[in-house]
Amino acid sequence: MATQTPPEAPGTPPGLTTNAAPFIEGARARGDLFITQPWEQYSQANHETWAGLFQRMQTRWGRYANHRFLEGIEALALSPDRVPRLEDVNQFLAPLTGFSAKPVAGYVPAYLFFDCLERREFPTTITIRDGRTPDYLPEPDIFHDIAGHVPMHTDPAFADTLVKFGRVSKMAVERLVERGDTPDLRERLASNMRAMARFFWFTIEFGLMRDHTPNSDGGLRVYGSGLLSSHGEIEHAIESPDVQRYPFQLEWVVNQAFEIHHYQPLLYIVEDFDHLFREVNRLEEWVMDGRLDNVAPCEPGISDEEIRLSLEAAREAGRVA
Ligand SMILES: [Fe+2]
Repeated sequence: MATQTPPEAPGTPPGLTTNAAPFIEGARARGDLFITQPWEQYSQANHETWAGLFQRMQTRWGRYANHRFLEGIEALALSPDRVPRLEDVNQFLAPLTGFSAKPVAGYVPAYLFFDCLERREFPTTITIRDGRTPDYLPEPDIFHDIAGHVPMHTDPAFADTLVKFGRVSKMAVERLVERGDTPDLRERLASNMRAMARFFWFTIEFGLMRDHTPNSDGGLRVYGSGLLSSHGEIEHAIESPDVQRYPFQLEWVVNQAFEIHHYQPLLYIVEDFDHLFREVNRLEEWVMDGRLDNVAPCEPGISDEEIRLSLEAAREAGRVA
């Protein structure tokens, strides 16, 4: 016998569930990338999903997260029960580092993303995953962005590193386009963007850090947001014998392919945030020396559309004649 979905009670919010949010579909149809967060549209199920995700990360964070992240969670006063309002988060965040979470309707093209970082704006997804599949995350959601990324943005050294990374990544594009439309422009551009994506992946998303806090065991802690927002992988990253963990080495990182649909088999360790900042400085030198113009091929693929959008954005920014 067929079952019927009961009619929704009047006033029931439509929900902001990943891939099932009319508000987001409308914004995309209009071509709106930067949006507001219609907080009243979160359904009760959305809030329960947030609460469930937040609750089950507590012991994992206490055990595996680096101490700056834990302090960031405290500083932001994130609600354990309700999806946060971004404006509330920003009220706590902005005085600390000048960063803010900026709501977006979907994927932000690379150059625009770098530009946001340089402005201390973090493009933030407002939808939340379907609570029936809490572990499978084909794309970012608000739990990943707000509970995984944003607590790190409360740390001044980390925030400065993100800003610098954004600036260096933009420079990588601008340096090439300013040289003119040479026949190999697109290949070199794709190479630089691949290198930047790899750097971001192996640091900001999946980075490990040596624990140098007083009385520590000198072990490893997580600072990468992909790990900090994953109940299963945060433990796997630290505990599993199947993971290769190596000291950060720029030569490897910019040439190392990665895949996004399974736990990461290879992770890199930095000593502290000063170390990470120094590596971004080295990245800048490598950009200017052309050392990223021909990095190893393979993942991540950089589409023609991504290259076109980067060229267009750089042009709009007034960097290309
Ligand atoms: Fe992320």
